[in-house]
Amino acid sequence: MRAALPAPAIGLAILFALNTYAPAEGQKCGLCHPEQRVAFADSVHAKEEVGCVDCHGGDAETKDVGRAHRGSFRSLADRLSVPAACAECHSDLDRMRPYNLPVDQYAVYLTSKHGQAASRGERRAAVCTDCHGSHDIRAAEDPASSLYPTHLPATCGGCHADEALTDAFGLDPTVVAKYRSGVHGVSLLEGGNAAAPNCTSCHGVHGAAPPGVGNVDKVCGSCHQQTRQAFLAGPHYRGMLDAGLPECASCHSNHEVRRFGAGEIETLCADCHGADAEQTRLGQKIYTLIGSATEEVDKAEELALEAQGLAMHVEDHFGRVEEARTYLTEALLLVHSVELEPVDELSRRARSIGEEVRHEIYRDLDRRPAHIGLVVFWFYVLMTLAVVMAYKRRLAADERR
Ligand code: HEC
Ligand code: HEC
Ligand code: HEC
Ligand code: HEC
Ligand code: HEC
Ligand code: HEC
Ligand code: HEC
Ligand code: HEC
Ligand code: HEC
Repeated sequence: MRAALPAPAIGLAILFALNTYAPAEGQKCGLCHPEQRVAFADSVHAKEEVGCVDCHGGDAETKDVGRAHRGSFRSLADRLSVPAACAECHSDLDRMRPYNLPVDQYAVYLTSKHGQAASRGERRAAVCTDCHGSHDIRAAEDPASSLYPTHLPATCGGCHADEALTDAFGLDPTVVAKYRSGVHGVSLLEGGNAAAPNCTSCHGVHGAAPPGVGNVDKVCGSCHQQTRQAFLAGPHYRGMLDAGLPECASCHSNHEVRRFGAGEIETLCADCHGADAEQTRLGQKIYTLIGSATEEVDKAEELALEAQGLAMHVEDHFGRVEEARTYLTEALLLVHSVELEPVDELSRRARSIGEEVRHEIYRDLDRRPAHIGLVVFWFYVLMTLAVVMAYKRRLAADERR
């Protein structure tokens, strides 16, 4: 059957006008479809000489619409026909080998929540073109790509922040907003930190599915390895698996990931164990230890900064403060194995470094009375000058009245 044609006269006129543009050999489709031709021109496909007919079929040698749209032609207007069409090349090892591209996208996609839904005939599920675009497809490393890490939350958000859609599937419409306000989102989107996870770091690229209980610690642990090791060594790993709690996410949340202030620890432990529980008291103890050691180290650093302002040599002190901080970091990590002893040991070391540093700086200050004396002397001279000036200004003002 022939496709509906515009009035032949108008069609001819358009064709003559467009003929001033010289299309690539065998790509006459673009004459009648300038919008797609332009979008396509900068795509990764155009650069590799994939043409219109490679996706749509038809005949690109003719300027006759009837003939152009004949034979193998397909519009791909049916979303559900798209994944298999892309897979004709992207699952073909021979075609992809020269580019060293993996060929598993379609297979993995079929295992995802999206692919499963599409296989059921669900048209609202994501197909390849929802994430990649159809004509303007670019490599994800291209900053103009819809999949560039900083653009990805908005691309997923096109559906996952759309309440009508999420309601229909019983999904949470706030995942994207929460991600944006959590440490990871802030770090990636506002801080430009490429090491921070985007949606696909935790959900997989083509296999999008929520990591279930038992996998969450592995997903988080792909970046937070040491924290995961500490977590596996403690009681929460088995305890949470048995209770069906999603490991790390049950304390930190999955999308609005954040740290806890010292005052929040009590409520955190109490949420699951109860306010009077032994576990909650243990949590408080651990936090008092880390908290007071941190205070001591902060004080030492402040004093070292002041001493630096007095032109004292403090390089060594800063080095020790740094060392104390690594103990504190280690202690925070060991919170995840919920053991008092190692935390106690590390906090003690950090605290004693802080105390030593402060002690030494005070001692050095004592040994430099002349210097300090000079500072005090100038302080008084300047203060006196300021008072005299202010007094004179007032006198002058009074006289003018
Ligand atoms: C002489 C002009 C002309 C040429 C050449 C032409 N087309 Fe079209 N094409 C049209 C017109 C007009 C329509 C809209 C009417 C219709 O649906 O047939 C259209 C529609 C389409 C559609 C949408 C069909 C749908 O059902 O939604 C696709 C896809 C398409 N063309 C692809 C191509 C490709 C690929 C080529 C080259 C192989 C090509 N066209 C060549 C004029 C042309
Ligand atoms: C990588 C595969 C691919 C290539 C190459 C491709 N298209 Fe398409 N095209 C699609 C898909 C998929 C659709 C379905 C609608 C959508 O996703 O935008 C489509 C839709 C269309 C439509 C319908 C209107 C629209 O934009 O939805 C036209 C017209 C069209 N393509 C023309 C072209 C022309 C002309 C070329 C070559 C310059 C081309 N296409 C190259 C995949 C492709
Ligand atoms: C005719 C074969 C063919 C078809 C059909 C095809 N592609 Fe491609 N695709 C290629 C080739 C060739 C490349 C270039 C590989 C390269 O440069 O790395 C490519 C590159 C890509 C890339 C960039 C890969 C990278 O990171 O370098 C993406 C994304 C992509 N295609 C998605 C799609 C989607 C989505 C569809 C379906 C709408 C599709 N392709 C249909 C052949 C095809
Ligand atoms: C839910 C969004 C989404 C869907 C649906 C999707 N992709 Fe992708 N795809 C991505 C992202 C994100 C990347 C970039 C991965 C990265 O950062 O390396 C990607 C990368 C690719 C690449 C580059 C090579 C690679 O594997 O990293 C190809 C080719 C590709 N996709 C093809 C497809 C095809 C074919 C389909 C449909 C069967 C599809 N994609 C469906 C999001 C999607
Ligand atoms: C075109 C709309 C659309 C886009 C774009 C989209 N999704 Fe989805 N997604 C859906 C729909 C619809 C479902 C529900 C499928 C079902 O439950 O059958 C879903 C399900 C999911 C699920 C499983 C949720 C659950 O608990 O079952 C995850 C995870 C997911 N998407 C992640 C992503 C990520 C990450 C991106 C971006 C890379 C993305 N989606 C882009 C429509 C979309
Ligand atoms: C740091 C890892 C991580 C990142 C980043 C992340 N997620 Fe999730 N997401 C999870 C975990 C873990 C779960 C499941 C938690 C559970 O089982 O309770 C989940 C669940 C989901 C669900 C299903 C829950 C529901 O009820 O809707 C969707 C949809 C989803 N994420 C989408 C996204 C999107 C979109 C992004 C990017 C804006 C994103 N996620 C970023 C870890 C992450
Ligand atoms: C792709 C790597 C990656 C994954 C996966 C990941 N994170 Fe992160 N995370 C980071 C980076 C990078 C930072 C540092 C952000 C910053 O401070 O700018 C971070 C920061 C954090 C912080 C705050 C720590 C601090 O020093 O401020 C917490 C808590 C956290 N992540 C927990 C999690 C949890 C829980 C998961 C799993 C649900 C997870 N992360 C998955 C890379 C990752
Ligand atoms: C029982 C609740 C709980 C669980 C489960 C938990 N955390 Fe924590 N996490 C904490 C507390 C409390 C802190 C210390 C206070 C702070 O810095 O937020 C912390 C701190 C952190 C930090 C920042 C300090 C550091 O070590 O860099 C990261 C990152 C982190 N957790 C990641 C994870 C990961 C990854 C998992 C899973 C393997 C996990 N957490 C499981 C409660 C938990
Ligand atoms: C999301 C819930 C949850 C949170 C929050 C939580 N725990 Fe637990 N905890 C558990 C589960 C589940 C177990 C294993 C079952 C049990 O023993 O009650 C457990 C076990 C323990 C154990 C093992 C000893 C025992 O009685 O079996 C200790 C110690 C512990 N938690 C301390 C803490 C501390 C300290 C905090 C706060 C930093 C905390 N928990 C926060 C859920 C949680």
